[in-house]
Amino acid sequence: MNLPQKHSATGTTIFTVMSALATQHNAINLSQGFPDFPLDEQLAKLLHEAAHNGFNQYAPMPGLPLLRQAVADNFKKRYNLDINADTEITITPGATYGIYTAFTSVLQPGDEAIILEPAYDSYIPNIEMNGAKAVPVSLVAPDFHVDWNTIKAAITPKTKALILNTPHNPTGAVWTKQDWDTLAGIVRNTDIVILSDEVYEQIIFDGQKHYSVLEHPELRQRSFALFSFGKVFHNTGWKIGYCIAPPDFTIAFRRIHQFLSFTVNTPGQYALAHYIMNNSAEPLHSMMQKKRDYFLELMKQTPFTIHKPAAGSYFQVASYERINSMPDMEFAQWLTKEYGVATIPVSAFYNNKKDDKLIRFCFAKKEDTLMEAVERLRKLS
Ligand SMILES: Cc1ncc(COP(=O)(O)O)c(C=O)c1O
Repeated sequence: MNLPQKHSATGTTIFTVMSALATQHNAINLSQGFPDFPLDEQLAKLLHEAAHNGFNQYAPMPGLPLLRQAVADNFKKRYNLDINADTEITITPGATYGIYTAFTSVLQPGDEAIILEPAYDSYIPNIEMNGAKAVPVSLVAPDFHVDWNTIKAAITPKTKALILNTPHNPTGAVWTKQDWDTLAGIVRNTDIVILSDEVYEQIIFDGQKHYSVLEHPELRQRSFALFSFGKVFHNTGWKIGYCIAPPDFTIAFRRIHQFLSFTVNTPGQYALAHYIMNNSAEPLHSMMQKKRDYFLELMKQTPFTIHKPAAGSYFQVASYERINSMPDMEFAQWLTKEYGVATIPVSAFYNNKKDDKLIRFCFAKKEDTLMEAVERLRKLS
């Protein structure tokens, strides 16, 4: 039987390929974006408490009211934003699901959606699974800023959505207030919906501030903002996130959500709600900043070139121009096999596999892991 091909991405994702190669060659895995240190013991206890105390049946479709209220209170505290927990917040099984659901709420067959590349690998398949066309626009290396003229040129009457990600995976670039203002000007007289992927919102360095689309009153009216608890609390395997959107968008989003997963696992929601309400943990950005600085310092001992330190997220892009001139895909595999360090080739984040000869390291790892990885990379000198 021939089943339909619903999107153009074929084969296994690069993350699976590189992680498998890392295991096969006993390499240190700095490829996939997940921490190798444990979550807070208190959060683990809360999960146990939830299951033990009977929070094991379906949660309400939009998410546990306690968790939605905790998220709303948290945004008031951190951003001074008023967000209605009932009409604007939906808990999702991870941000990837939230992105798919938001696209599905907006796109019709034949529509176009703009993505900024390099980009997280689910965007294009998600657009195509809705019968729409992805229109990639490249960010400008090596600092990966936005070329606004290319965005303007990519907009057609069929453009119904634009997705962006800040702080950015894989480049670590962050959007400024000025970027948001420029975007607002460009989409002002269109009916383009913005999907703002902000999963790394709490990982931003050097005293900078993350600007959320929710802080831009004009754009907020036309945006879905997508978040992930996994990135913030070191529990990516829980796959819990949330979508914040205006009430009319939230109604459309939930219309899809109720027939996709309907709801999200209850004990995890219970644990996160109580954790957020009482959390006095050290802010994530200072913990990750220490890791970034430590990693950058260690990398000075290797022949890699860092064109720009990551401003946010937990990824650092590096060039290997002083080592060899292999294509990046080949280089990443060679590095894993010969030197025992797994990374991700940045070309994997482009639809046309554009190769700037860059690789991406994930530094959300224990200091020992980073030290051991750099020990191995020093042998390249
Ligand atoms: C930019 C970006 N968006 C979304 C996600 C997915 O988040 P989740 O694990 O909550 O689905 C990731 C995970 O790596 C990411 O890097």
